Order: sequence, then structure tokens, then C-alpha cells
Amino acid sequence: MPSLSEAFRAHPVHLHHSHLDFGSVKEVPDTHAWPPLDEHLSGDKFDVESVPVIDLGDPNVVSHIGHACETWGVFHITNHGISKQLLSDVESQGRHLFSLPTQQKLKAARHPDGVAGYGLVRISSFFSKLMWSEGFTIVGSPLEHARQLWPCDYIQFCNVMEEYEKEMKKLSGRLMLLILESLGLKKEDVKWAGPAGKFEDTCAAIQLNWYPACPDPTRAMGLAEHTDSPLITILHQSSTSGLQVFRERGQRWITVAPLSGSLVVNVGDLLHILSNARFHSVLHRAVVNRTQQRLSVAYLWGPPAHIEISPSPQLLTPDRPRLYRAVSLAEYLIIKAKHFNNALAFIRLNPLVN
Ligand code: OGA
Ligand code: NI
Repeated sequence: MPSLSEAFRAHPVHLHHSHLDFGSVKEVPDTHAWPPLDEHLSGDKFDVESVPVIDLGDPNVVSHIGHACETWGVFHITNHGISKQLLSDVESQGRHLFSLPTQQKLKAARHPDGVAGYGLVRISSFFSKLMWSEGFTIVGSPLEHARQLWPCDYIQFCNVMEEYEKEMKKLSGRLMLLILESLGLKKEDVKWAGPAGKFEDTCAAIQLNWYPACPDPTRAMGLAEHTDSPLITILHQSSTSGLQVFRERGQRWITVAPLSGSLVVNVGDLLHILSNARFHSVLHRAVVNRTQQRLSVAYLWGPPAHIEISPSPQLLTPDRPRLYRAVSLAEYLIIKAKHFNNALAFIRLNPLVN
């Protein structure tokens, strides 16, 4: 499978190597102090609408998914077939990792030109302030890093993460077929789906995010606003809320409260492109909590790195002309590493010229 590492090598992320010991600080230091967030922290109290919840066993699942992708770009799924045991195992392995002493975690530190390993979130380089979180990224096998973290006791972590990757990959393929159907497309319209429509050849990463409790959540940012680059992300969040999505309608942040046993799916930039902007990649962020720590596990899923993704020809009409040029995930990640939240604009075609 083609690797994505060249995209990262081309644009290394240089981060300040100041690792804050979140557990011991009594106030938010200047390095981590963001402009006050109060108006956005309004949270559940003022939320008049909430993110759609879709039962994958519902006979009308296709139209529900299409509607959610069009109007929200994010939805919860229930009846997804991922066992509670696996979700709880992945969560406890994540907690096990982040509770290690900092010096131990740094043994598995991400290289500046790599993506896998422990460290600050990659998007940190776009902001002058640091975020109130730690991350661990898995691409392919976590074995090398797990060995650094637990020289004698890494098998359990690897087994759980490999099982999770296998199950998430299957679920992503299943969701992608439903998403294509909601756009009026078939698996045959997507060459890289493979003959059986199983999406065997894909690029994916597991992103574990850890948000420690914070003495002043109004001044800290867990994970700054961004969209995810690949096609879809499936997120498992622990019982503490923190994920927020930006609602164009109303111009406000809405909390995606954790629903026990459900997973959150969001539309990424490549799906935005493939759907010719019928579906919108949703802007989202994570805020932090005064008393509770929070863990989330994101599975980012995309096509093979060098396959070109472009607006599906079946979706183009005189009223909806083609809006984006073709781009591969590898190329798109390079554009994203340079232009971050403006990346989509860089591959947009001018419809008047087109
Ligand atoms: C991500 C992400 C949200 C969260 O990892 O890309 O958006 O709630 N995570 O941790
Ligand atoms: Ni994200």
C-alpha cells in the first residue's frame, strides 16, 4: 500500500518541545492561554437543535444519512455492530497510555516529519498557543511504539488496536456504500472500492486524543477548529463531552454530547470534494473540562494515497457545475499542511471559468 509518509516528510511540523505536566498545574500558563471562550462555552444549555442520531438498522438509513451529510456533516450512529467490549477496551488502553509518566511517553514521540507516535496534535504548528491535549497516532501497526512504551507488556495494547482498526475499516466501508447510495452512486462508480465493494485498499489512521482536566476551561483549547482531511472520521468519545461542531446555520458551536454506545461520524474534505460540495466537511473542535479528563478515539479513513478523487461526474449538472479539481489524498495532505483550514479553497475551480 502506498505510504503517506512522503507527504509529511515534505512538510515537517516543527513544534515547541515544551511538554506541560497537565496534572500538576494550578492555572493555565501563558503558553496555553487562548482568548476567552465564554460565548462558545454556552454548550448544551442554549442548544436548540442536536446532531442527528441514525440507526444503521433503520430501513430508511440511506436517506437519513444523505440528509445528515447534507445538512450537518456530522451524525451519531447506533446499531453499528462494534461491541461495547471493544469500545471499552480501546478506551482503557488509551487511558493506560496517557497515564504513563511523560518521560516514558516521550520514548514513543512522533518524529517531526512523521505522523505516527506520541505528541502534541499536528495542527499545533498553525497556532501561537498550545492546546490542552496530548495525542497518539497509529498508522499501520503500533508495535514499534508500543514496545518503547511498555518493553515487557505491549501485546495487549497492540491486539486491541489491531482489532479496533479491523472493525473500523469494515464499518467505514459499510458507511461509504450507504453514503454513495445516498448520492445516487454505486460501488462500481468508485474504482478503488474493489470488485466486491469492500474497500480493501484504503489509507487510515487511529488518533487517540487525551484532554486532561483544566483549571480554567474558558482560557484553554483542547483541539482547535479544523476539518478532517480524508473521506470520513468515526469518533468514539468517553462519557465526558467536549466535541463541538460549527453550525453554519446560526453561526454557532453545538456540543456533540456523548451518547452511550453510539459513534460519531463526520464528513471529511475528500468527501466534500467527491460530492461536489453537496456534503460539507464539518468544522469541529474540542473544548476541555474543569473537573473531568476526556479521551477520544478518532478513526480517519480515506482512499489509497495516490488515487485521484474528484467530483463524481454523475453529480454534475448545468446548475451544479464541477467545483473542484482532482486531488489525491497524498497531495491534499501537502496542501493542508501548508494552508490548513483554507486548503479546500486551493483546489476549488472557478465555476464561471469552468
Ligand atoms: C480529531 C478530532 C475530536 C475530539 O481527532 O480529528 O476532531 O473530540 N477529535 O477529540
Ligand atoms: Ni477532527
